[in-house]
Amino acid sequence: MQPGTVLLHSFGGLRRKDLNGQGSGALTQPWWRGAVFYEIYIRSFADSNNDGIGDLRGISSRLEYLKDLGVDAIWITPFYPSPQKDHGYDVADYCNVNPEYGTLADFSHLIDEAHRLRMKILVDLVPNHTSDQHPWFQAAVSAPDDPHRARYYFANAKPDGSPPNNWESAFGGSAWTQDQLSGQWYLHLFAPEQPDLNWWNPAVPKEFERILKFWLDKGVDGYRIDVASALFKRRDMADRPMIKDSLTGLRSPDLKFKIIDQPEVHDVYRAWRRILDNYQPTRVLVGEIFDPSRQARYILPDQLDMAFALVRARWDASLWKQSIEVDRHAPPGPNASPSWTQSNHDLVRHVTRLGGGSLGRARARAALLLLLGMPGQIFLYQGEELGLEEANVPPQQRQDPAFIHSGGKQAGRDGCRVPMPWHKGQPNAGFSKAAPWLPMPAGWDRLAVDAQAGSADSMLVFYKRVLALRRRLAGLLPNRLKWCPAPEGALVYEHGRLNVAVNFLAGPVEIAVRGRLLVGSDPLVRHRNGKLTLPPNSGAWLSL
Ligand code: NOJ
Repeated sequence: MQPGTVLLHSFGGLRRKDLNGQGSGALTQPWWRGAVFYEIYIRSFADSNNDGIGDLRGISSRLEYLKDLGVDAIWITPFYPSPQKDHGYDVADYCNVNPEYGTLADFSHLIDEAHRLRMKILVDLVPNHTSDQHPWFQAAVSAPDDPHRARYYFANAKPDGSPPNNWESAFGGSAWTQDQLSGQWYLHLFAPEQPDLNWWNPAVPKEFERILKFWLDKGVDGYRIDVASALFKRRDMADRPMIKDSLTGLRSPDLKFKIIDQPEVHDVYRAWRRILDNYQPTRVLVGEIFDPSRQARYILPDQLDMAFALVRARWDASLWKQSIEVDRHAPPGPNASPSWTQSNHDLVRHVTRLGGGSLGRARARAALLLLLGMPGQIFLYQGEELGLEEANVPPQQRQDPAFIHSGGKQAGRDGCRVPMPWHKGQPNAGFSKAAPWLPMPAGWDRLAVDAQAGSADSMLVFYKRVLALRRRLAGLLPNRLKWCPAPEGALVYEHGRLNVAVNFLAGPVEIAVRGRLLVGSDPLVRHRNGKLTLPPNSGAWLSL
């Protein structure tokens, strides 16, 4: 191997690639195939200036930790100037840094440091809506005839005075808010402080091309695109038909009626791809699209590289297999590879979803083996490597607009956004000397990074071990997977020379599996004379 090159842990086949782009080129696959991505929720990751809020310098100070964990690429949630009505997903200025997170110089420093450690940085692009404090929207509401109004969706009320249509905001209530000055209404699929941009207006795509280049020129390696399929709304802005819910008998808008996902969105991504193609090494576009049935139209050589293969099925072997199979076949083409994920900043943490406590953690370890053994990329969410559970945030301290705008009907997402515990025995688990922006539960520091680092049976050490093993196996494994016969309640597959078995049951199972035991998720996993014994909720990797 040439100096400066690494064998890339691609689970799609043998790849040689210089992560900094000076590699041999000919034999290479893009750097991101099979890579380990790690999502940083900036507000809660690491606080360098003790104001209770994470920041860019905090991230820079923890890059070695991420490298050591086995991370290849980091996705950072929005850090742009923003009134924080949706914690950064309400952007007031797309080409700057919110002072509470640092400066553009801090961002450049972070990029340089990450690249020095051969890690990539993805930033979050929010093209569906701006903040209501964005200069465009401020101009739009400054006068009823201001031309900036055409860059958003302003419309008149229905004749009865109700909002222009019956669309609902993801955070509860109507998706329309009245503009006091003109009496018209504006559309927001999320919070009222997040007015939707009108992508049919040419000024909007033009501006986003400028933004795209701005961060690419700063050295970013790609983008995660927020609500990637929603940019264009149906032109007729028609009401969703009302249907009767078969369970409750209540009439409600038919959510299957398509209001987003318009064909024109693909031209936008084609244009973005052409821009990205001017940069070397390859830059990536990851779309926030979860619905597998829609991914094939976006994950194409001339559009996006990845979307998310989210597995959140109930802990049941056949449901997991079903979910995996749907996702495995979602991105088209023989070389496509899904981007597995279980948690992010919008979801209840998966240890909790899987049953919580020691049961949830046992299942999470087994699930990690199941997903990491497959071809494809993996997206980890900060803190899952510590086995963090959903935190119980008292209602009066919740900050999520989903909680606020739904009048408490939606619990909101604060519970998965509680800051990272770094140090045992320190105030606020070493996250900050100041009170963190969301309260940390009592005893959170017992899960701290330094509490787990030296303990062989901790979740953190397990993650590191499995990620390191996966890296070592890379290049030996094809982009193919074969399910093998397994007792009911268990799953077994072969991925080239790797055999993976997981027991979903509450009792032990014994499975005939060949190979040498590489790692078990539970200390009681045994492999003797070709028989693998899996305790309840456990899994194993074997190599052939
Ligand atoms: C998806 C983001 O992940 C979520 O946090 C945000 O609230 C919405 N998009 C709106 O931007």
